[in-house]
Amino acid sequence: MIESFQFSSLPEIIFGKGKRNELPGKAKSIGKRVLLLTGSSSIHNTGHGDEIISGLRSEELEVHHEVIAHEPSTGIIDRLVDRYRGESVDVVVAVGGGSVMDAGKAVSAMIPVEGSIRDYLEGIGDRKHTGDKIHFIAMPTTSGTGSEMTKNAVISEVGEKGFKKSLRHDNLIPELAIIDPEMMLSCPARLTATAGMDAFTQLLESYVSNQSNTMTDALALQGLKQIKRHLLRAFLEGENNLEARSGMALAAMFSGITLAHAGLGLVHGFAAPLGGVHDIPHGVVCGSLMAPVFALTIDQLMTQPEHPSLQKLIIVSKVFADFKYKQEMEYLQAFKEKLIHITTLLELPRLSEFGVSAASVPKVVEHTSHKQHPVTFTREQLSEILLSRI
Ligand SMILES: [Fe+2]
Repeated sequence: MIESFQFSSLPEIIFGKGKRNELPGKAKSIGKRVLLLTGSSSIHNTGHGDEIISGLRSEELEVHHEVIAHEPSTGIIDRLVDRYRGESVDVVVAVGGGSVMDAGKAVSAMIPVEGSIRDYLEGIGDRKHTGDKIHFIAMPTTSGTGSEMTKNAVISEVGEKGFKKSLRHDNLIPELAIIDPEMMLSCPARLTATAGMDAFTQLLESYVSNQSNTMTDALALQGLKQIKRHLLRAFLEGENNLEARSGMALAAMFSGITLAHAGLGLVHGFAAPLGGVHDIPHGVVCGSLMAPVFALTIDQLMTQPEHPSLQKLIIVSKVFADFKYKQEMEYLQAFKEKLIHITTLLELPRLSEFGVSAASVPKVVEHTSHKQHPVTFTREQLSEILLSRI
């Protein structure tokens, strides 16, 4: 029998080659004043930057353009919100990677309410967001976080007391996501790798999560099949392989939906404290820790042969296998090796390149959560995982 489940709302989704051209008309149907957020280079690297801005202006929209150059911090969001509170912005449009999506989501949510975003962050502030917001349109230029599908914006502060926390409310799901794979053709190889590993991790973690359900399972498995088919091709020939970009865009989109409904696992549990203490891109953490975390997870689950997450890992291992008609153990072993192989092929950097050392491990472990991971590990095992990637 199918287990009972709930599924909340999604954005209106417009997916496909050339669909960026629908942005001006959609924005105009909401109002006249547009706050456009882009990355420092992403919108111009696509070759479509000027086209998007002139498209919005040709609809006689009043466009205010701001650049998000880093992962959004409380300071970046507060400064933008101060500038546009009282300016009667009708629609916020974010065109860029995960940082720009999160910044757009946060700004659209903070303009109508009082105070600093710090006051509303989970685990940091003590105010509850009302859910009031400005209409928000997301148009990603990378395939990774799936933030265009989620109801939270990740905001960080780096340093000794650093953190990576969410502003979250059911109303923060974007009203519209326009996902045009042509916008991703110019995404650099290194970013394609780290963002792609973020999507891969999100799909696998939500698939084996102890809060997964029939709907998230269907989407996660389909997303994982897209990853198997397209991740390496998008990395190696991303400039002209629209099919690979399209597959990765779909995988990232599905990963946003599945993480929002089924939750994540230990790799993302490491990502929050690592990203708070060190200035390290989220996708690097995911790409770096995926192989050691899932090797240990498979080993532990093999002691519980009937565990549903082990059965799912066998299904995924078969998707990624280069052979057929073997024993289940051989598929699982090959999957562990495949994860190491993918990490190597994508040239993912070690954590030490971003200042993570043996000395930082105890503090990171202390603040690491298992989230919805199907098994738990001891502090010693968590330390070993981190040390293996320093
Ligand atoms: Fe992620």
